[in-house]
Amino acid sequence: MNKLAVNGGTPVFGGKKMMDLIPPWPPRYPETAERLLEVYNSGKWSGCSVYEQKLMTEFAEFQDAKYSVWMANGTVTLECALLALGVGPGDEVIVPGVSWLATAQAPDYVGATPVIVDIDPDTLCIDPARIEEAITPRTKAIIPVHIFSAVADMDRIMAIAKKHNLYVIEDCAHAHGAKQHGKGVGSIGDVGSFSFQLSKIMTAGEGGCCTVNDIDVCDRIFRASHIGNSRIKPENELPATLSCHQYRFTEFQAAVIYDQLHHEAELRAKRISGMKLLNGLLRDTPGIYQQTSSCEDDLRAYYFPTFLLKPNCLKEGITRADVYKALSAEGVLFHEGWGAPLYDFPSWNVPKDKFVKHETPVCADVMYNRVVITHNAVLLMDDKNISRVAEALDKVMRAYTA
Ligand SMILES: Cc1ncc(COP(=O)(O)O)c(C=O)c1O
Repeated sequence: MNKLAVNGGTPVFGGKKMMDLIPPWPPRYPETAERLLEVYNSGKWSGCSVYEQKLMTEFAEFQDAKYSVWMANGTVTLECALLALGVGPGDEVIVPGVSWLATAQAPDYVGATPVIVDIDPDTLCIDPARIEEAITPRTKAIIPVHIFSAVADMDRIMAIAKKHNLYVIEDCAHAHGAKQHGKGVGSIGDVGSFSFQLSKIMTAGEGGCCTVNDIDVCDRIFRASHIGNSRIKPENELPATLSCHQYRFTEFQAAVIYDQLHHEAELRAKRISGMKLLNGLLRDTPGIYQQTSSCEDDLRAYYFPTFLLKPNCLKEGITRADVYKALSAEGVLFHEGWGAPLYDFPSWNVPKDKFVKHETPVCADVMYNRVVITHNAVLLMDDKNISRVAEALDKVMRAYTA
């Protein structure tokens, strides 16, 4: 009965595939279709119209921040946050080696030097001890990432930032709705940066926003992304050195996100109960454990449910690729995420003399050998199918661990 499907046994999902059983992604709501028509007929397709203005207030509140500024994606949000904080040529920005390219490219876009450091082996977020070691007189900011389904250790990061007088920009691209000690991510550091790209927990296909508490920083972020114009503090002079871009958001995107914000609580409850079920069922499964978060009271967004293979747990001759293959034969999709630390991505194009990379053994080990990730909507399946995912993982790990 427990013969692996890859060896001719019966697949856990029968003839079906997990990917055919997850609810449609992204979620579609009838009220959004009506709202999009309303926006279309209004002709107010851009320029901080009704829904963008609502989001500026409501999304900020949702993340416990005072303000939010909306733009084209979650890359230019990082860039504009750096510009607004005055980070530029000659400055260094400390970033983790495991993230999407944008986290490390944004400092380069503003002429600063990305300084790549190692991650914590269990949370997969930037390791605060490695931040301290990388600080130099040129260091101006840190960009922690709340990655996959964890929240970075903001207590330690903020203490380091305070001690060394550094800015903190939280990359919250994976963490809509996440909190640490009851405080929304993106409201803890100086600026939060969110992405609304197609795979994200909330999505308009593309989109991004910065959350911020300081009105003057907010004004500069707005100007940096809206060719110098301001809706925040128009009475302020445009800072002469602020580089300003056209990175505006559209009202169609705002209408889509608006409804997702109002459905967030129900989807989050489902994700949390799905993860609890999965973890409970995997309690005795050998060789694998869930990515942890930094603090016990973290409210996790569970963007990508992420697991780690225990070091050296696989039988001789078995690799992580064999685990994926066996899971796929059972009908379950797990994958290696981006497959590499960001500095090894083929599209990492920052010239060698324009970035600093510290030793990153954990980034390499995690990304090349140990991380096991699944689709962001898996936890939205019904309990029966989530249980089958656990059954498949358990079956494969029992067969492949030493
Ligand atoms: C951690 C992280 N930061 C930033 C981004 C950039 O977001 P966008 O694709 O909206 O530019 C992404 C996108 O996947 C991401 O995963």
